[in-house]
Amino acid sequence: MKKGAVVVTGASGYVGSWLVMKLLKDGYVVRATIRDPTDRKKTQPLLDLPGADKLLTIWKADLAEEGSFDDAIAGCSAVFHVATPMDFESKDPENEVIKPTINGVLSIMKACKKAGTVERVIFTSSAGTVNVEEHQREQYDENSWSDIDFCRRVKMTGWMYFVSKSLAEKAAWDFAQENGIHFISIIPTLVVGPFITTAMPPSMITALSLITGNEAHYSILKQVQLVHLDDLCDAHIYLLNHPEANGRYICSSHDATIYDLATMIRERHPWCHPPHKFDGIDENIGTVHFSSKKLLDLGFRFKYTMEEMFDEAIQTCIEKKLIPLPPVALVSELNGKLDLDA
Ligand SMILES: NC(=O)c1ccc[n+]([C@@H]2O[C@H](COP(=O)([O-])OP(=O)(O)OC[C@H]3O[C@@H](n4cnc5c(N)ncnc54)[C@H](OP(=O)(O)O)[C@@H]3O)[C@@H](O)[C@H]2O)c1
Repeated sequence: MKKGAVVVTGASGYVGSWLVMKLLKDGYVVRATIRDPTDRKKTQPLLDLPGADKLLTIWKADLAEEGSFDDAIAGCSAVFHVATPMDFESKDPENEVIKPTINGVLSIMKACKKAGTVERVIFTSSAGTVNVEEHQREQYDENSWSDIDFCRRVKMTGWMYFVSKSLAEKAAWDFAQENGIHFISIIPTLVVGPFITTAMPPSMITALSLITGNEAHYSILKQVQLVHLDDLCDAHIYLLNHPEANGRYICSSHDATIYDLATMIRERHPWCHPPHKFDGIDENIGTVHFSSKKLLDLGFRFKYTMEEMFDEAIQTCIEKKLIPLPPVALVSELNGKLDLDA
């Protein structure tokens, strides 16, 4: 695809900011949308990116406001719709999470139709649209959809997020088909890796819960699938440019159980003390596989190991002082790379 201006929604977030960085590096003109462009904590990491002075502009847009994305999308050749409300603690999940996610994607699709210049919309979906159901299967692919009634009935951690992403993606597919928009969805599993945002990203709260002891997130790690943030962003750009890209694409490189993760973290980061046992989780539990075959068949290749995902995420969190620091004696073991005074 010709390198016309591309829009990235949710550009201040974990995935969005890394995607903006990669697009700028590739020479794209990027329009980054965020809700509050006066919030320096959110804009500065973007403005500091190499190439930002020449290629990046920041636009104000909110999923909860109809027509909010019209200006940013007008005249663009592609839209990466990454933004999503992620408030698992919401007191009003229907109005604060589910409605804005669905109405927001529709508002973006309408803006693309109005613009008439958008060749592709790449929607960052979620594994939560695929495998949230009463009994886990051994393997999932793009044909699976989560059981919305089960989510609403059981109300497990993050249920409103699973419902919002599933209904939003389905609504977008209907709109795309009715209005002839080339829509592609990419389905990441748990994203882990380094980051440029200042705050702790939501997925790091889950991924590093074995270090922080945040037990509410252990159920998500029980049988988990993972992808490195850099691989995920490469896949977004790959799907933008591949002439045959069509439909949904799972983007997941590794499957693990919570016991696998605890062992890996204990061995590689001895100052962390993940639990040895997890109540109610069988030690011999198997993995659940998310198949990225469709993406791999299109020619995409993953670059990172699970060890690299966690090493780099932990290193970034230490540098930003978002998790407890390792004892001084172990800092040299971390290659002296950490800037603990930053
Ligand atoms: N990280 C993962 O493990 C993972 C896994 C699967 C799928 N995903 C998907 O990846 C995407 C990005 O997630 P993330 O991990 O980067 O989360 P994140 O760091 O929380 O970023 C979410 C972004 O959405 C924006 N946002 C929230 N509510 C909004 C609203 N009402 N209007 C406009 N923007 C709004 C936030 O912008 P503000 O700065 O304005 O608040 C933020 O930049 C999401 O679509 C998510 O479903 C992530």
